[in-house]
Amino acid sequence: MSWDALYSSAFREVRGRIGRVGRVLLAYNTNIDAVKYLNSDDLEGRIRETGVEEVLRYSDELPGRITSLEHLFGGILWSVKRGKAAELFVESCSVRFYMKRWGWDELRMGGQAGIMANLLGGVYGVPVVVHAPQISKLQGELFKDGPIYVPKVEGGKLTFVHPREFAGDEENCIHYIYEFPRGFRVLGFEAPRENRFIGSADDYNPHLYIRPEFREHFEEIGEKVELGIISGLQALTRENYREAIEEVKRHLEILSERNVPVHLEFAFTPDETVRKALVDMLGSFHSVGLNEVELASVMDVMGERALSEKLLAEDPVDPIAVTEAMLKLAEKTGIRRIHFHTYGYYLALTDYGGEFVRDALLFASLAAAAKAKLGDVRSIEDVVKAMDVPVNPKARGVEEKLREEYGMEEGTALVNNHHLSFVPTKIVTRPKSTVGIGDTISSSAFVGEFALS
Ligand code: AMP
Ligand code: GLC
Repeated sequence: MSWDALYSSAFREVRGRIGRVGRVLLAYNTNIDAVKYLNSDDLEGRIRETGVEEVLRYSDELPGRITSLEHLFGGILWSVKRGKAAELFVESCSVRFYMKRWGWDELRMGGQAGIMANLLGGVYGVPVVVHAPQISKLQGELFKDGPIYVPKVEGGKLTFVHPREFAGDEENCIHYIYEFPRGFRVLGFEAPRENRFIGSADDYNPHLYIRPEFREHFEEIGEKVELGIISGLQALTRENYREAIEEVKRHLEILSERNVPVHLEFAFTPDETVRKALVDMLGSFHSVGLNEVELASVMDVMGERALSEKLLAEDPVDPIAVTEAMLKLAEKTGIRRIHFHTYGYYLALTDYGGEFVRDALLFASLAAAAKAKLGDVRSIEDVVKAMDVPVNPKARGVEEKLREEYGMEEGTALVNNHHLSFVPTKIVTRPKSTVGIGDTISSSAFVGEFALS
């Protein structure tokens, strides 16, 4: 079958069965994304006012956190110059105030858990229980209609309500997302690829604040769910990670007693101690999702420097190096499913198999194309329309390499007792925005797979 035919049949299958998926737990990071599409003249003017020399210094080496405007603009420039995403915590109140006055073009649901809640619950109709560290009026309003629930404790009794009905009046956790298109020019630099820089003016998510409802009633919450997706551990530091990780481990134990498969969305984790701790915990998860930078960073802490370099050396990323890295990670941790995504293709390594793993990846690629094209996926019809987006032509070479090395056919192969699934993805040439595409891919593939299995 051609890839087009495989795409349509996978979509039909997943659409027909996604209604069978039981409740999914989504924890922990939910916030408000204030998205600003950068304008060159405006940005250049602001950099000049702040001082070009200092800003340039931070665009070579990212600061650890933002305490000045030089850090803010240095961070934005760091991302633009490389076409790479970065995210820093904004500590200074005066910088937070500056960002607020600078403004935004759109307010959107943010955070892996929040974005996945709107997609799974609001678009696919899969019931979800989501953790939002702070439920402000605005945060509540950003949740779509649908079977989306947060726990609420009244008179010591746990109930589940839609986040809007929670009627929270808590703080706003705002992440300022500075998006730029490919070719964006500032101070003589040109962005090689579309991407974004994020400044998080948020005292809850970066520290993995866990609400009392989740701390005190997790046993009961765990009884209500059939699948779990965990994220938001990426901003922890060696100073603050221990207590937070202990609580996460307790949650994982409760879920594992009930055999709930849990996926970890492995966002870029700059602190090496925390990254190591996450790799050590991977055996408690069923599945993990990561991109090439994240997989390379995991190889780094596993002492596989050469492999890590190989993962970042070519575009598109060498699929043989990716497979080797995934095998090493699976062997070291015992994790049953690894889902790798990069610009142009996805690979999944699983210790079980069949075409349903590949088909779930195809469904995810359609959802990702819809997200890239529209910024927000409003309905399953938006996902169908992404069928018109062409398959990335560069993925042909990737498929050829996999065929030669592993005898792959129609996106499936057996490698060292593992199943390897491959799909060439649909790429939107001029995406509306880039934030949240990774979350769309990972949650659609994970939940899609359970719908089919
Ligand atoms: P992350 O790196 O986790 O934010 O996820 C980004 C992923 O989104 C990449 O690995 C690609 O697979 C996908 N992606 C990025 N840009 C596009 C685009 N223009 N069209 C479709 N998918 C995209
Ligand atoms: C990170 C950011 C959040 C954004 C999300 C998208 O969690 O903190 O602002 O919405 O990534 O994946």
